[in-house]
Order: sequence, then C-alpha cells, then structure tokens
Amino acid sequence: MATPAPRPADRLILGQLLHFTGDPFAAPVDEVTRHERRGAVLLRDGRIHATGPAEALRTAHPQAEVIDHGDALILPGFVDAHAHYPQTAMIASWGKRLIDWLNTYTFPEEMRFADPAYAATIAGRYLDLLLANGTTTVTSFCTIHPASVDALFEAAEARGMAVVAGKTCMDRNAPDGLRDTAQSAYDDSRALLLKWHGRGRATYAITPRFSPTSTPEQLEALGALWGEHPDCPMQTHLSEQTEELSWVASLYPEARDYLDTYEQRGLLREGGLYGHAIWLTDRERDRLREMGAAVVHCPTSNTFIGSGLFDMAATKAAGLSVGLATDTGGGSSFSMLRTMAAAYEIGQLSGTALHPAQLLWLATEGSAGALRMGGAIGRLAPGAAADLVVLDLASTPAIAQRHAEADTLWEAVFPTIMMGDDRAVTETYVAGIARKPQVA
Ligand code: GUN
Ligand code: ZN
Repeated sequence: MATPAPRPADRLILGQLLHFTGDPFAAPVDEVTRHERRGAVLLRDGRIHATGPAEALRTAHPQAEVIDHGDALILPGFVDAHAHYPQTAMIASWGKRLIDWLNTYTFPEEMRFADPAYAATIAGRYLDLLLANGTTTVTSFCTIHPASVDALFEAAEARGMAVVAGKTCMDRNAPDGLRDTAQSAYDDSRALLLKWHGRGRATYAITPRFSPTSTPEQLEALGALWGEHPDCPMQTHLSEQTEELSWVASLYPEARDYLDTYEQRGLLREGGLYGHAIWLTDRERDRLREMGAAVVHCPTSNTFIGSGLFDMAATKAAGLSVGLATDTGGGSSFSMLRTMAAAYEIGQLSGTALHPAQLLWLATEGSAGALRMGGAIGRLAPGAAADLVVLDLASTPAIAQRHAEADTLWEAVFPTIMMGDDRAVTETYVAGIARKPQVA
C-alpha cells in the first residue's frame, strides 16, 4: 500500500497584523479595525487557517515553519479592481487627454498584442510588477486578441494568482487590426469564458471597452452573453471625461445618459464593474446602487489624463460598492500604495480627508467586495486565500524619520501610504507562497 504524501508543512507568518471586520466608511474606524501588535497568520494548503497572537499560535502549532517579519505590517494582499495590462510598456505617455491618448499611444501599443509572444512577455512582466508592489489580485482588460487573454491567465496560473480578465471588445472607432464584430466578440468571449472561467483561480470578465468603441449591436451581444453567464463579472468604463460624455451622447441619441447605453442592452446588473464613474447624474448613481453594481475609483489615472475628481465620500454615502484601482497605463503607477495616496489627495480636493483605514480597506476588502470576491480574498480570516502583503513601515530614510515620530498605529502607517512604493513591500505571499520577485 502506497503511503500517503506528507501534507506540506503549516507556516506561521509573524508580524503586526492589520485587517478589518467591517466597512470603515459605514462604522467607526476603531470598531472595525483589528490590530495585533505581535501577531501571526497560520497558513495551510494555500489558505489562512487561523490568525491571532504570535506566541499563542506558536504554542498551539509547534511543528509549523516560522517566518518572522518582525515589526513589519501584514495585510491582505492588495486588490487592484481595474487595469490594462497591455498598457504596461506605454505607461507615463505624455500630454494627451483621454480620446487623443487612446488614439496616439494606447491603440498602437495594443496592436502589438497580435503577436502572442509579445503578449506573453508583457503579461509576465506586468504580474511581476504587481507582485513587487504587493498586489495579489487584479482585474484587467486585455486586447481584442484572444491570445492576449490566454497570455495573462497563463502567467497568473504560473504565479498562483487570482486574476480577473477578459478580451476587450471594440467594433468601431478603433483602427484597423483592433476591431472585432458583434458576432466575433460574442463568439471569442464565450470561448474564452468557457476555457478560463473557474479554472484554478481564473475569473473571466465580459469586457466591452466602452460605449464609443462598440456598436449597439455589439453591446447587445455582450449583454446576451452576460445573461447566459451571470456569475461572470462584466467590466467597462463609465463617465470618465467630459469630451467622452458628449461623444457618447452623439453616438447614442436615444439614451437617457451614459449608463443607459449599457442598461438598455443588458449590461447593468450585479457583477458590473464601471471604471472611473466621475461625472454621474443622480439617476445613474441611484440606478447603479439599485442594481447592485460597483464603481471603481482610478485616482492616478483621473489626475494623469486630467479626467476629474471622483467624489468618494458622496459615492460611499449613497451606498454604492466602490473598488480602488491603478488603471495602468492611464494610471501612472503599478502600486496600490501610490494609488491610495492619490485617492487621499483627491479626497482632500473634494473636501474629505480619507482615513488611512478607509484607504487600506478600499485597497483590500473594498475592492474584493466590488469584485464579489469578498471572503475569498482581501481579508485576514480563516478560509480566505493566503494572499498577503508584508509592509516595512520604515522603508526609506524619509519614511523612517516620520515613522519614528508616530504615536499611534495610524500615524505609523500613513507615511507609508503616502510615500511608500515597492521598497516598502518586504514580501508578497500568493496562496501561501512567497512571490516577491527578486531583483537581480
Ligand atoms: N476608456 C476607454 N478605454 C480606456 C483606457 O484604456 N483607459 C482609460 N483610462 N479609459 C478608457
Ligand atoms: Zn480603464
């Protein structure tokens, strides 16, 4: 009789633990914050098995391998709720607003993904940049090329990452070589969905780019596909820039507003992820909430492309689900720390100072909830995936000297939120495995 394979050893990850048991926009911060000054996370089979005081868990699990991160802060891995991995190599392209930026920089770069080898190179580079920055889950647009979807999911599978992605569909107002049709968008998306959705940690997202680059027929076809697979998310863009709103109004003269261009075609419901959502009318905000859809705040993109100020306080007060995202490469960073800093700055310009707890919650549990993945990722709780980021709260001289003055947890954390980057990320665990790429 064959002896059963030994179970991989339990691992105890030691450090300061910080996580949330509720939404700090909806309840007092202190009530929903759990902070363990000397804590531990017990990892078993790629999941969190237990959390608690370090010494108690060490005593209870003497066989576990111990990895001690000292004073570093252990959080759930960051969840980036909207990005474009094909824009990795053209991030920080100068001087254009949205429509010119798409035509000048974005579409030419996305054409390069006709070559599956290029797609594979960028997919691997992109996910390594995310891991270096402590992001363990991303929701990404791909290009119109089905192979660009395969490339990202294959790269994610190789790294054990839970990734949400889909083929970007466009059948008008895009250059030759970057357009599909209503029928081919439906067929290709369906084939990719059947191939990838639920395979390992992959989630397929139905992905019309935005109303201006789809005909009504294409939106209808993708709405029908979503109706057939309602457990899939659907991602798109909504009300990002004023010129875009005018363009949408001229392309869809019968629509009540931008959201209506989606709503009329089966593209508004729970599981919908609407990036940017800056210039919403009251009707749109109400309707998004009624339908249980989520909007995604992309602060570095909204400043970089000059789109406008998302009103986080009003949006959360209205009861909408909100995720936080880099929107790479309209966004100017791969880092969710940098993204939280930009969200803070935009909050200030909008009259509300977002609390560090609110920023961290948005980057973890908030984004996970927007993706309908709450409970599975984004929290330090038994049963959740062992996706963790470990942050050094004194990673540079500038941060260290400010951290040395801190009297409270939030004062200790906020300098890293505002000034931290990949140097603050000591380690990134994906399904319990240390995955921060080593710099040569
Ligand atoms: N709207 C349509 N496509 C895009 C894109 O690639 N980036 C951003 N920021 N907005 C878009
Ligand atoms: Zn986007």
